Amino acid sequence: MGKASAPGKIILSGEHSVVYGYPALVSAVSLRCFAYASSLPEPGIEIISKDLEVRQIYSPTEVYQLKDLPLNSKTDNLAFSALKTLEKIGINPLKQGISISLESEIPISAGLGSSAASAVSVVGAILSLFKKSLSSNEISSLAFEGEILAHGTPSGVDNAAATYGGYLRYENGNVSKLDIANEVPVLVCNTMVPRETKALVANVRKRYDSSPNIIGQILKALGQIPNAMIDSIAKQDFIALGNLMEINQGLLDSIGVGHHAIHKVISIAKEFGALGSKLTGAGGGGCVIILPSDEDSENEIHRALKEQGFDSFRTRFSQEGVRIE
Ligand code: MEV
Repeated sequence: MGKASAPGKIILSGEHSVVYGYPALVSAVSLRCFAYASSLPEPGIEIISKDLEVRQIYSPTEVYQLKDLPLNSKTDNLAFSALKTLEKIGINPLKQGISISLESEIPISAGLGSSAASAVSVVGAILSLFKKSLSSNEISSLAFEGEILAHGTPSGVDNAAATYGGYLRYENGNVSKLDIANEVPVLVCNTMVPRETKALVANVRKRYDSSPNIIGQILKALGQIPNAMIDSIAKQDFIALGNLMEINQGLLDSIGVGHHAIHKVISIAKEFGALGSKLTGAGGGGCVIILPSDEDSENEIHRALKEQGFDSFRTRFSQEGVRIE
């Protein structure tokens, strides 16, 4: 049996603008997705996901056709990354069958990178099963092949975060791991409004195509925030960081990826002393990250959100990316 796991992530800044080539600042979190791979007697790729409640068997021909067909199962992208991984390590998918089963601690469709963490852990579990190794860059690229099927025009930031772990600055496929010693103490609140990254990215593209000058300027402004945030984190200037989060949220609202549930969470957090809050991931629902002013404010925000039916938790930062066992 092959086994691997990969972390989810929070985007501190850069969602959407990263798709247009601007930088993003991300942090891997301690919630992980686990994948287990075993050989099958017949050729084919089986994907079993407890969390998605899907069990799907693809014949080799079906997997080869996935790229040209509309996605009809949430596991198509994982089967495709599995196929590409087998090919990459010199195993003929027409002769060798595999089964991969996944279990995840990362909430689905919430902006915490569950899809990319699943893809990276699938690649890792196959490497573990066949006792092969690849570079981090190769693992991330194989996961990205499936992400393209699932998300249309993803930037690659999610699979990079799941592969490398830690705090990352990501820009156009270039990953720099940042030397941030002190964790940024953010609270994550899940609005429980599910959303689809693909549709949100496509909507931003539509707005951009219809008003390129205006949306182009907003994306450019969004693209300045990650570097400013890295600066404020290095100086431990959380007031500046909170301000940047607020600016970031305003700009994301103006490209149409806000939601009234996000605004509700943000206003509760503000009332109880948050220095700043913003959506994380594709938006349109999903999770909000909140920077409390101190421990008391964190407890107050957590309590106030709970009273309004919102669950929140403190993320733990994860230095570890993909783990192949
Ligand atoms: C999704 O986690 C982040 C987006 O920027 C999409 C992407 O980067 O592919 C919205």
